[in-house]
Amino acid sequence: MKDSDKAAQEYVASIPFDRRLYRQDIEGSIAHARMLAKQDIIAGSDADTIVAGLYSIRDEIEQGKFQFKTELEDIHMNIESALFEKIGDVAGKLHTARSRNDQIALDLRLFVKEEIPKTIDKIKALQAALVEVAEENKTVIMPGYTHLQQAQPVLLAHHLLAYFQMLQRDRERFEDCMGRADVLPLGSGALAGVPYPLDREFVARELGFKVVSTNSLDAVSDRDFVIEYEAAAAITMMHLSRLAEELVLWSSSEFGFIEIGEAYTTGSSIMPQKKNPDVAELARGKTGRVYGHLVGMLTTMKSLPLAYNRDLQEDKEGLFDTVDTLHSSLEVFAGMVRTIKVNADRIAQAMKTDYMLATDLADYLVKKGMPFREAHGVVAGLSEYALSKGKNFGELGMDEYHRFSPLFGENVYEITVESSVAARNVAGGTSPQQVETALKEAKRLIKE
Ligand code: ARG
Repeated sequence: MKDSDKAAQEYVASIPFDRRLYRQDIEGSIAHARMLAKQDIIAGSDADTIVAGLYSIRDEIEQGKFQFKTELEDIHMNIESALFEKIGDVAGKLHTARSRNDQIALDLRLFVKEEIPKTIDKIKALQAALVEVAEENKTVIMPGYTHLQQAQPVLLAHHLLAYFQMLQRDRERFEDCMGRADVLPLGSGALAGVPYPLDREFVARELGFKVVSTNSLDAVSDRDFVIEYEAAAAITMMHLSRLAEELVLWSSSEFGFIEIGEAYTTGSSIMPQKKNPDVAELARGKTGRVYGHLVGMLTTMKSLPLAYNRDLQEDKEGLFDTVDTLHSSLEVFAGMVRTIKVNADRIAQAMKTDYMLATDLADYLVKKGMPFREAHGVVAGLSEYALSKGKNFGELGMDEYHRFSPLFGENVYEITVESSVAARNVAGGTSPQQVETALKEAKRLIKE
């Protein structure tokens, strides 16, 4: 681009953000140069000079001595131009049998491949934190909710392990995404392949790719792996946001189920009694920008003709911000969850009325031979009656029970939140035995 229009030059430049890919870019160039020499496309001594030059550029960047230039547009041209300054004309041989189109596709794939294991480790750390809190509070029974109405008692550990499962699926999604990112695009050239006898398998091995791409047009213009990472990140953030919402609710004075450590809350500047769950709120809020990056990238890709189009340069900022937002959110969550103090007394208080045992009363009648639908009706009447009298089920007399069904016997008083939880001993249920098994399995999965 002519340097006459500075605004346009800045408009097309990606160096302000793609400098983040300098390591991947240099790594890719080194593998490419070695392969060119191995195939006698360039001389071995030229490749050595190029590789040495690239290493010293990498050092300069890492020491903060490198001068990035906007007029050189992107990371590829910045590095190539520096290479010319360093080793002279032989630098011009590096770009043989290569285009910036396959080069950027390579850099970005290398980036995603490096980030996925970090993402997975951070998810695991949060899973481990959830398991810790679940174990510490193994015996705590809490109201389980549907429609945010108390529904049936559950173990707090069971509730926390629900998030463990969401995160487990997130892990799987990132692993899955890794499989499709693990394809070497280099060797596709600008779009049609290159007229040189490349050894693409060699480059793939050097850079740790499982396979080489099979269609050059697709390889230079495919960004599915970016979208897949962003989609997996969006789902993970959605899960964090759900957890965040519960932590916000639970730490409110109305619930008072938990307290979040002071490092993760802030006081209000004018209301001294407040401890605001800012970290949880921010994670909930940041979910929006991660969704935004996914929709943004899908929209960028929509209707793009083959092959490379400059639109694709818009892939990077959203991806980088997605990675950064997801990673920082996972990290602070793991820390925050560990500081959770469970207030078992307040939770017990929330279950002072025992209407959550209505289903258990219906099941009681079912076990005495009544069809479930009928039992449901009987207990609905009983509940209405108890409510109107301001009494718990446990406070109703036998005579009162008998007004609704003769099948009620003295052992109806043995129905408690404990018996309710223990009764749900089906696979995946909330009984202490099932939750114990789930905790064991969770700990195994963390180590996997
Ligand atoms: N900066 C570009 C990008 O990020 C690199 C590829 C440019 N290719 C081109 N033909 N201008 O997509």
